[in-house]
Amino acid sequence: MTALTLSTAAAAGLRADAIVVGVAKGAEGPVVAPGAEAVDQAYDGRLAAVLETLGASGAEGEVTKLPAPSGFKAPVVVAVGLGAAPEKDEDYDAESLRRAAGSAARALAGAKKAVFALPLADAADAGAVAEGALLGAYSFDAYKDNGKSAKTGKGAKNARNGKAPLAEVALLGGKPRDKAYKAAVERAAALAEELNRARDLVNMPPNDLNPASFASLAQTAGKEHGLKVQVLDEKALTKGGYGGILGVGAGSEAPPRLVKLSYTHSKASKHLAFVGKGITYDSGGISLKPAGHNETMKCDMAGAAAVFAAVVAAARLGLEVNVTGWLALAENMPSGSATRPGDVLHMYSGKTVEVLNTDAEGRLVLADALWAASEEEPDAIVDVATLTGAMMLALGARTFGIMANDDAFRTAIHEAADEVGEESWPMPLPEHLRKGMDSPTADIANMGERMGGGLVAGLFLREFIGEGIAWAHLDIAGPAYNEQGAFGYTPKGGTGSAVRTLVRLAELTAAGDLG
Ligand code: BES
Ligand code: MN
Ligand code: ZN
Repeated sequence: MTALTLSTAAAAGLRADAIVVGVAKGAEGPVVAPGAEAVDQAYDGRLAAVLETLGASGAEGEVTKLPAPSGFKAPVVVAVGLGAAPEKDEDYDAESLRRAAGSAARALAGAKKAVFALPLADAADAGAVAEGALLGAYSFDAYKDNGKSAKTGKGAKNARNGKAPLAEVALLGGKPRDKAYKAAVERAAALAEELNRARDLVNMPPNDLNPASFASLAQTAGKEHGLKVQVLDEKALTKGGYGGILGVGAGSEAPPRLVKLSYTHSKASKHLAFVGKGITYDSGGISLKPAGHNETMKCDMAGAAAVFAAVVAAARLGLEVNVTGWLALAENMPSGSATRPGDVLHMYSGKTVEVLNTDAEGRLVLADALWAASEEEPDAIVDVATLTGAMMLALGARTFGIMANDDAFRTAIHEAADEVGEESWPMPLPEHLRKGMDSPTADIANMGERMGGGLVAGLFLREFIGEGIAWAHLDIAGPAYNEQGAFGYTPKGGTGSAVRTLVRLAELTAAGDLG
């Protein structure tokens, strides 16, 4: 990954390919943001005017490149838009900094080293710029060297996805000897590395990432970071009675897995459980998706990838909380052995489910994992899933929906997401939608009314939560996979949605600020 340092050196003397400065939208044109004073002086205080002449406005994500002033070792200045300038006496908010740093890092793909001279009011801002730069410098190149590295997952040297990501970032004005700054930057580095790991998993093609290979990657990385990793294979799942996971995996040549990752801290007093939907490919099964709806369905394990990344990040950050991650892994395929619409599954909880549509598979694997998580009686359960197209229709491609059995918990998650720069919105679980899932044959059907499909799915999951446990469900079907162009620190493809929210929840729980 991109290397990161804090620097106190003078901008002019730094050897780098570029110096990144911030430019904001002021009332009368672009204004140069704090942090770039020395650069501006070297242009005789005319940087804002030059930028305006070049057409820059300071709008979010805008990138303007210009030759560096004389006397600077770095040849180029990159001015990145921060959006509206803050009110007098206010600072730039963390998300503006994160996005600007991400846009700059993307614009610098191919460069070796860049110095970031963005406005840092405190240690948290340094963390935000670091995070934005490291997330923006992501690229998925494992399959770009004529297939040679496909098996190892290692990046290729030559035939990349365009240019190589920016290799080195130095943050100017970052107080390297200040504990808070150091901690913020170290947190950003660990978090970004794990989040980028989640993106890699989502981007991996489904012929290489199946339930067994995902489980073995989790085993390797989990052990490396001191986690306890338990994997239930198809035999163990059969013995344990995990009818939901087995039912979804029944049509695939690649059998399902349930992975449990445990991070424990000796001083922890709280226990969080994270549960992720891990459909390594969703063809729809016998209720096959039509062409045009399955090209991106390798992303259907993004919930499990987020949970995996968040548990490893919690371990790397040494958070004082116990976190258990559950990855419900299966491939949803049609075949002679596949579950049929009309079949009844005996779920791990003991309930029976009539499968009316095999494409509503996520709730089936999650139901078993949610019940398994409930058996340990954690203080709270949060599941993450690319669960419904309906949630995408409701909220668009950048916002995840939050449903919960506890209003205060739902609000806390919404606020945590907001804090880390993830867009989310609270959604209801209307009781009247439950009867749409009544089945004449089984305890419940896996489909209900079409209207409010995302909420119906949430109501289904609620049935598999142990008595008295706070639970929330994040439907990340929209933001998990970016089908449009890259923006800010978000690349095309896998985005790592929900990782930062989960890690923030673990941090808040560790600090005693949640529940
Ligand atoms: N994995 C899909 C949901 C999805 C759709 C995720 C688009 C990302 C982008 C899920 O398994 C699914 O197929 N849901 C169905 C449910 C329906 C059959 C009740 C849907 O949303 O159409
Ligand atoms: Mn489906
Ligand atoms: Zn699915």
